[in-house]
Amino acid sequence: MIYKILVVGSGAREHAIIKSLNRSRYQKEIYCIASNMNPGINELCEDITINDINNCSSVVRYAQEKNVQMAIIGPENPLAAGVSDALWNCNIKVVGPKKDMAQIETSKSFTRDLFKKYQILGGAQYKTFYSMDGVSEFLQQLGNDYVVKFDGLAGGKGVKVSGEHLTNNNDAIDYCQEIIDSGGKFVIEEKFVGEEFSLMSFCDGKSLKHMPIVQDHKRAYEGDSGPNTGGMGTYTDSDHLLPFLNTDDANEAKMINEATINALRDKYDDKYKGILYGGFMATRDGVKLIEYNARFGDPEAMNVLSLLETDFIDICFGITNCELDEIQVQFKKQATVCKYVVPEGYPDNPTKGQPININNITNFDRLYYASVDIENGQLIELGSRTMAVVGMADTISEAEVFAEREVSSIIGPLFHRQDIGKDFLIKKRIDNMNSLR
Ligand code: AMP
Ligand code: GLY
Repeated sequence: MIYKILVVGSGAREHAIIKSLNRSRYQKEIYCIASNMNPGINELCEDITINDINNCSSVVRYAQEKNVQMAIIGPENPLAAGVSDALWNCNIKVVGPKKDMAQIETSKSFTRDLFKKYQILGGAQYKTFYSMDGVSEFLQQLGNDYVVKFDGLAGGKGVKVSGEHLTNNNDAIDYCQEIIDSGGKFVIEEKFVGEEFSLMSFCDGKSLKHMPIVQDHKRAYEGDSGPNTGGMGTYTDSDHLLPFLNTDDANEAKMINEATINALRDKYDDKYKGILYGGFMATRDGVKLIEYNARFGDPEAMNVLSLLETDFIDICFGITNCELDEIQVQFKKQATVCKYVVPEGYPDNPTKGQPININNITNFDRLYYASVDIENGQLIELGSRTMAVVGMADTISEAEVFAEREVSSIIGPLFHRQDIGKDFLIKKRIDNMNSLR
């Protein structure tokens, strides 16, 4: 029996997913429906086809043409478009929740309402607004500490935090007005103070298997400065916690993910099958939910999938067949550091289409291709996060040295964050957490 598996999406996260599938002991053929010709993915697949990955009929047609049994959906947009529903309707198993349940990522108010209705710990004081009525009053009620969130997918750009992006209430009101003028709605919620971390869990709708905890770095420049990005780099520790977290924090986050899956099952009388990614803040008052994603994080997938010891195909069928509780999901007890190189000017004004050279890379197993293409035999960057490397070792420091050496060997008009995974930055996180507790 040969498993035929489709991966939807073509960034570094999907390259990591495909590498994991490729390591499986089963006979398999991997197919990819892609938005760019990712050469790393191309090497590992029977076929890669460029098409609109958010169009249900294109994806279903491709899946049926290739006769796949299962699909794994990488990014959020196909989930939001109902690609999972469309594939299940054609008897193709899917790792990735259906559209209704993907609202956990696509709608900020949906998630906050779910927490309220099911009394899940870690929720925020919040209100959803469809007009400017009551905005000033609610901002005043929250004092100076609030967050305004556009209520829809905005590629990480819809959230503005007081004291960071919003210097005073007038800024906040202007931003709210901008959303209303464009026909949108928004959530205003209390601002949490602490350290952020991510807990991703494999879910079959009933059971969850948690992955090592990861910390992402969203800001573009050294020292957590500059504009927000999709994530410039991530790390995990050998004990699968982070240096500033304790087991109570991890257990709280695990319980919140579990309660959320139970709430979704109750609400829809259906099962969430895929990855649940909780973005949390460890605060003085315990663990709080910042946001959910309905998929693997990018770059978080590169860290955890590098560590995964269990056969990934077994996990995927465990998810789709609702048999995850029968699978021992194990990860190496090592630390990882992942760093992205991105084009000069990223994210606001990136150079595009410039040649890059990766001849000095020493370990291609830990190199992930993202927004790249091949033009006349030459590798070029496409203006977004370009490539990621992962270092793996007994300690974060050692993993960082490897990742830094590899990432700085990539030649082109690119930059990366040297500080991710370095001792001084981690010490800053620990000191911050200690000052809060
Ligand atoms: P999101 O798109 O919801 O992940 O928000 C983007 C970023 O905004 C997060 O990574 C946090 O840094 C920040 N953020 C979102 N919600 C809150 C909150 N309630 N308190 C503090 N920071 C937040
Ligand atoms: N790295 C954050 C995300 O994937 O949304």
